[in-house]
Amino acid sequence: MSSIISQDFIEFARDHFRLDWDGIHGASHWARVRRNGLLLAEHCEADRQVVEWFAFVHDLERHDDFKDPGHGHRAADLAEELNSRFLHLSAQQLGLLQAACCGHSEGKTKADTTVMVCWDADRLDLGRVGIYPSAKYLCTDLARGSDVIEAAYHRSIQNIYESAPSRDMEEAMSHDELGTWGER
Ligand SMILES: [Fe+2]
Repeated sequence: MSSIISQDFIEFARDHFRLDWDGIHGASHWARVRRNGLLLAEHCEADRQVVEWFAFVHDLERHDDFKDPGHGHRAADLAEELNSRFLHLSAQQLGLLQAACCGHSEGKTKADTTVMVCWDADRLDLGRVGIYPSAKYLCTDLARGSDVIEAAYHRSIQNIYESAPSRDMEEAMSHDELGTWGER
């Protein structure tokens, strides 16, 4: 299955995003969050469309690379604004996406399965800022597995060593195959 993230949306995001496209909250992070989320979604009852859109929307309204406490709520508002143009989610799906965006940086670990998968997908990508993901901050049993954490961690630090920040993004846009957790 190919990505539901269209080239039109990527062009919109490039114009809209205020921060460094190749930075810690930029496009390669979104692509890895998408991959983490879809891998988790293969093993539980999570809505894949919501998971994919969360990856590409949750940090899109950031004003800085620090805490920026309002960015999740702004992302939820933006998701609603963009729904008829790009996302095409049902009201129920949009509600899940908005809940995931609003709560993703508040440290919560209990929610609807789709929302928990979104949060885990984001938290599994902390290696890019020098943090090894801790199982106690992850929501699902699957994400707490040491093999899952280890594989996501290695993907998250790959760009740091290879200086290829856009590679993950290209993969997200063009590859149908997600691979497996074991793949780094
Ligand atoms: Fe994020």
